[in-house]
Amino acid sequence: MSLTQVYKNIGTLLSLEGVRKKDGRRVQEEDLSLISKAAIVVSGGVIQWIGPQKKLPRIYAKKSKDIDLQGSTVLPGFIEAHTHSIFSGSRAQEFELRNQGVSYQEIAARGGGILSTMTKTRAASAKSLLDLTQQRTDRFLQQGVTTLEVKTGYALNLKDEIKCLGVISQLKGPRIVSTYLGAHAVPKEFSSADEYLHYILEKVLPVIQKKKLSQRVDIFIEKGFFTQEQARHYLSTAQKMGFDCVIHADQLSLCGGAELAVEMSALSGDHLIQIQENQIQKLAQSRVTALLLPAADLYMKCAYPPARKLIDAGARVALATDFNPGSCPTQDLSLVGLLGRLEMKMTLPEVIAAYTYNAACALKLEQKTGTIGVGFCADFISIQKDWTDLFYQIGDQNSSKSVCSGRIFDFS
Ligand code: NIG
Ligand code: FE
Repeated sequence: MSLTQVYKNIGTLLSLEGVRKKDGRRVQEEDLSLISKAAIVVSGGVIQWIGPQKKLPRIYAKKSKDIDLQGSTVLPGFIEAHTHSIFSGSRAQEFELRNQGVSYQEIAARGGGILSTMTKTRAASAKSLLDLTQQRTDRFLQQGVTTLEVKTGYALNLKDEIKCLGVISQLKGPRIVSTYLGAHAVPKEFSSADEYLHYILEKVLPVIQKKKLSQRVDIFIEKGFFTQEQARHYLSTAQKMGFDCVIHADQLSLCGGAELAVEMSALSGDHLIQIQENQIQKLAQSRVTALLLPAADLYMKCAYPPARKLIDAGARVALATDFNPGSCPTQDLSLVGLLGRLEMKMTLPEVIAAYTYNAACALKLEQKTGTIGVGFCADFISIQKDWTDLFYQIGDQNSSKSVCSGRIFDFS
């Protein structure tokens, strides 16, 4: 049995119990559920007790290890629910081209974009991919990420997608959630999207399932990639096999992604820049998390998604980086949160909920993590500042201590 840990001397604890009770919708400041001068008791990686330290039950005084958090602020660890962290090579030259006016789709049509990263990722050894991806994972962990989603989608054949999923399963630090994004682009060896989707349904998904490498699939619905109709067939077949689904939806053009996410009860609809009133209402009335990725919008020089309207209509909005070598080569959570506040008119409590409970919903982990409460995993961070200083300075590291299922990572 592991030793009981008692985290003491917490200046302010944000449990987000109120956010959980409201299912992450229409979050107000009081939903952050602040407790001052608090303590947390953890055993076996699970929270046993939280509350004001002066009410700490005596039984925890015995045979436990005290951890002094020196008056810091404690909140749930961040959940980074949309990244493409496993890839090889850089696309800096493409960034220069895009900056001079060549569009993302045009670069893709010329063989650049996703397919150029694919060539380098296929050629990379598992060892080199593990080194690269572990470094990126460490960079997220240092920013207070205690759960990290990683998509494949830069290999696009059976052998190398399985190689990538195998690498993802070896990552250390935060809790890792893998997503199979084979339906990211059509590789050259297939003559049509239909033919390629047929191949992944027949040849790739059964192997992923047998080897238990992922429980989630994603698809990029966009002109020049996959249509709504193709995605409907692909996702419904994958769902019948037992996979959860998420969708890259309505990023560059309005092509039915958000509507399909609602129709299929996807866990999340991601990007959502182009959605209109109709889709906003549908998302608000559904259980689908609207997962917004404003750092990608900054890099793509496009509009930002209608976060304010989504939240006001009652949708559950989450935030993530979308870290990838093409549309968003940054891992900076502080930038994402800041764009949420500056460009999408989100309040700070909404941003905090978007990066914790709401992001947990996008990964179907809201019963385990994203808030601090008895029975939840001990996933929280300690910061040497007030919660109101979060998502304020670009480049801020945020966490000085990250606790992932009771394992402590110290960055102070
Ligand atoms: O989420 N939109 C599709 N996928 C990524 C971009 C991938 C790439 O350009 O390499 C995204 O923005
Ligand atoms: Fe993405």
